[in-house]
Amino acid sequence: MPCYALKANYNPTLLKLIAQNGLGADVVSGGELYFARRAGIAPEKIVFAGVGKSEAEIGQAIQLKIHSLNIESESELRVIEKVAQRLNKRVTVAVRVNPDIDAETHPYISTGLHSNKFGVTRETAINLLQRAAKHPFIDPGGIHVHIGSQIDHKEPYIETAHYLLDMHAELEHLGINIHFIDLGGGIGINYNNQLDEAENKVTYISNILPALLKPFKNKKIKILIELGRSIIGSAGFLVTRVIYIKNTPQKKFIIVDAAMNNLLRPSLYQAYHQILPLRNDHTMIEKADVVGPVCESSDFLAKGRELPVVNEGDFLVVTGAGAYGQALASAYNLRPAIPEYLVDGENIDVIFAGDTVESIADRYKW
Ligand SMILES: Cc1ncc(COP(=O)(O)O)c(C=O)c1O
Repeated sequence: MPCYALKANYNPTLLKLIAQNGLGADVVSGGELYFARRAGIAPEKIVFAGVGKSEAEIGQAIQLKIHSLNIESESELRVIEKVAQRLNKRVTVAVRVNPDIDAETHPYISTGLHSNKFGVTRETAINLLQRAAKHPFIDPGGIHVHIGSQIDHKEPYIETAHYLLDMHAELEHLGINIHFIDLGGGIGINYNNQLDEAENKVTYISNILPALLKPFKNKKIKILIELGRSIIGSAGFLVTRVIYIKNTPQKKFIIVDAAMNNLLRPSLYQAYHQILPLRNDHTMIEKADVVGPVCESSDFLAKGRELPVVNEGDFLVVTGAGAYGQALASAYNLRPAIPEYLVDGENIDVIFAGDTVESIADRYKW
């Protein structure tokens, strides 16, 4: 069952399209659960992950009878037991195992190592499933894993698949018959060359997904996958205008009207996004930092980037902005959120009108 990870982009119009295409949802908060349901995703296709679910969020998920709650600690299982008992409702859980496998991605988006806060050791996972099996309201349905994000090669996934199959066999041996394995998400996109990638259809997902699923072929167990970036990342472009060009003795700065509050990834994890002039009639190449107006030295979209020479007033396109772009945006420096447009051939629809300073003030009832 493919589930869409709402954290990548929760625009309601896109969620409705995703729901219409039959995907389930991977949510990590009561807010995402609400959006998934409102977009028309059936509860039995929703999985709920995250290390810090509140009692209220657990209650909502149990009431809705979602597919499963992915538990990440003994304390969380205790709360699930209590809430299920109080509501007098059965709930299916998966335990998130931390396999200590290196996804070889940026440390901030690596989640499958024992030094990360996510999941529990294999031993603890087995103990929790054994304990859950004894509880009258809990179905120990599965095991869950998510080793990280923006993973561009298949080897860590293949290692994880074999780890899970081995664990499944151990559970069977112990008399615990789980009925699903949730493989998480994390398949990357090629940020270096988004447009060529679209043209050539050579994507990481087409390389990784078959290799990840192969070990489970002919096994009688339901497989779930939670994909965010690989579904929505390449579909989004951030269009920004050059406000000023500034030459200093050290370097050239292209100051644009988008900033870290609109696209945080470069500042947060030194992420690379391809940047191109909207009109590609510029021939000379120069090196520059592309920076925004926010009052932080960490506010940049690119550093030391070779770009066609652009002028003040020109537009630039930042590719691969569909995932973790607007979803990570803030109103820092009181810069309102920018609008979003859905382009389908000749058709352009406004799917988010953006905020204004007044709409931000309204939130304070001011
Ligand atoms: C539990 C879980 N599942 C799925 C995802 C989606 O990851 P991606 O967008 O890289 O596919 C994440 C991302 O952080 C996650 O934490």
